[in-house]
Amino acid sequence: MNEQLHHGGQLHEAARRQGIPPDRWLDLSTGINPLGWPVPAIPESVWRRLPEEGDGLETDIRRWSSAPGKAGCVAVPGTQSVIQVLPRLRDRCRVGVIVPGYQEHARCWALAGHTVVAIDEDKAHQSDNWLRELDVLVWINPNNPTARHCSRERLLSWHRQLRQRGGWLIVDEAFLLPDEAEHSMTVAADHPGLVILKSVGKFFGLAGVRAGAVIGDPEITAGVAGLLGPWALSGPARYVMQRALKDQTWQAANAEQLRSASNRLDTLLQAHGLPATTGTALFRYVLLESAGHIAAALEREVVLVRRFASPPALRFGLPGDESQWQHLNQALARALAKSRLTSSAQ
Ligand SMILES: Cc1ncc(COP(=O)(O)O)c(C=O)c1O
Repeated sequence: MNEQLHHGGQLHEAARRQGIPPDRWLDLSTGINPLGWPVPAIPESVWRRLPEEGDGLETDIRRWSSAPGKAGCVAVPGTQSVIQVLPRLRDRCRVGVIVPGYQEHARCWALAGHTVVAIDEDKAHQSDNWLRELDVLVWINPNNPTARHCSRERLLSWHRQLRQRGGWLIVDEAFLLPDEAEHSMTVAADHPGLVILKSVGKFFGLAGVRAGAVIGDPEITAGVAGLLGPWALSGPARYVMQRALKDQTWQAANAEQLRSASNRLDTLLQAHGLPATTGTALFRYVLLESAGHIAAALEREVVLVRRFASPPALRFGLPGDESQWQHLNQALARALAKSRLTSSAQ
């Protein structure tokens, strides 16, 4: 469990494998917005001074996420940092983690000595019986990679049940778009035992800056801040995150643009004979027995996609410009023809 997991984005490894330099690749292996928020020049003083909480970033995060004033809110170096420390805030307990899903949650809870119970995403919606044996539940909304949304009513009901025995509900909203407020749990972020994770890596396309937020039960968010220690989020990251969150115009235009790109990707994949996909605005997910063969064939066409073993599936991120769309189109045609999989994929 202490092994490093792979999540896509290992472009340099693929480049070495194929002997093709990284800048020639079409990397669709992550769900990161290829047309991210345009980062402005960062003032010299931001580089020189220690980061300060008095810069108002936390207030801006609350406003952006509609979190109530009583909720805790801490800016963090990526939601991954929170995923890593949350398990240290509880005595050993039973933790349910959505499967399939972002595997870091299960890895980190298990690493801290908790008992991790895999909760099948499909079955979870059929009854609540499985919840009885849990102290903590981690849900990803929308899920990565299946893209499935869970209603706020259901999450609130799970939270109520967990709360009756001092349990926690952790909702990872890394892939939720700002205009999907009806799904977000941040409006209830002042409820005890509720924790919500927000990332600026995906929709804002700022994965490299390592910034995000933990919002929710103030005791838990303070515990996270304590474990992360002082200056966990760099000054430049705070500066960039604050301005990106305030840029409502860009956010509205971008959400629309991403949805249309995601629909275009779905149409393209189906035109090449792949089965219907599910997806968020940032990626498409295809269940496919031959996922491994197709991923390998695409790699030979200098396209990197994310492959999942169980269930066998592929995840395609969005191309960023017309030449990348063409690259993908041609690569799909050649890869599927070469591996003679077009017919079996239909
Ligand atoms: C569902 C989910 N949550 C959280 C993360 C961590 O993202 P970050 O640390 O960039 O906020 C990822 C990364 O891929 C993810 O897929």
